[in-house]
Amino acid sequence: MRVIVAENYEAMSRQAANIISSVVVSKPDCVLGLATGSTPIGMYKELIKRYQEGDLDFSKVKSVNLDEYVGLEPTHDQSYRYFMQTNLFDHVNIDVANTNVPGGLSEDVDAECARYDEVIRSMGGIDIQVLGMGHNGHIGFNEPAEDFPVGTHQVELAQSTIEANARFFATMDEVPRKAVTMGIGSIMLAKQILVVVNGEGKADIVAKAFNGPVTPQVPASILQLHPNVVLVGDKDALSKLKF
Ligand code: F6R
Repeated sequence: MRVIVAENYEAMSRQAANIISSVVVSKPDCVLGLATGSTPIGMYKELIKRYQEGDLDFSKVKSVNLDEYVGLEPTHDQSYRYFMQTNLFDHVNIDVANTNVPGGLSEDVDAECARYDEVIRSMGGIDIQVLGMGHNGHIGFNEPAEDFPVGTHQVELAQSTIEANARFFATMDEVPRKAVTMGIGSIMLAKQILVVVNGEGKADIVAKAFNGPVTPQVPASILQLHPNVVLVGDKDALSKLKF
């Protein structure tokens, strides 16, 4: 694993954008695995800036997102489709038809999960997967569990995740309890993984995930077994990591 210690959030975002940019430049029709959440917002802003300056071309890029809430319309301002449109897709020349977010409204969730796995497979896999990390070590919405789920599946969100998400909803009742997420197997098949973390609140879980045992109780710990991981964090998030 390569670790990049950035001075602050802005520097972390630029370093992460450098890594994504190098993939897009060297393989214009690459498949980007994308994440939502607070952490990658600065990285997306940086990518938009580079596109606007004429340094990046997304016209042939394809994307697959990690996850989506069950029950939210794509136009709901807390849906992950909406997040991706407003934080990246609407501002660069990516073809929206080439962007994929799991469907959270499907009547047949199992069929939707199988379809999503087929989308990833038919694209030839993911060239680089961006991951944030939950305070409990979740990646995508793969919460601490008894085993590592392989393919796309529906999850009941952990209480701590529901509480962390509550800040984005008017009332606790509106916070989704379920999500559809890419499995750990699909994430691990990505050719490269870019983990972004910031803030001292992430310091304990970062150390646990990368210095502790590999266990489904800390889903991100499986990344220790991936041959091509880059961890980009600000110095607060990486302050307890031994490397
Ligand atoms: C987002 C996702 C989540 C987040 C994680 C960290 O698509 O899959 O695993 O990456 O919850 O979220 P933030 O960045 O808000 O701390």
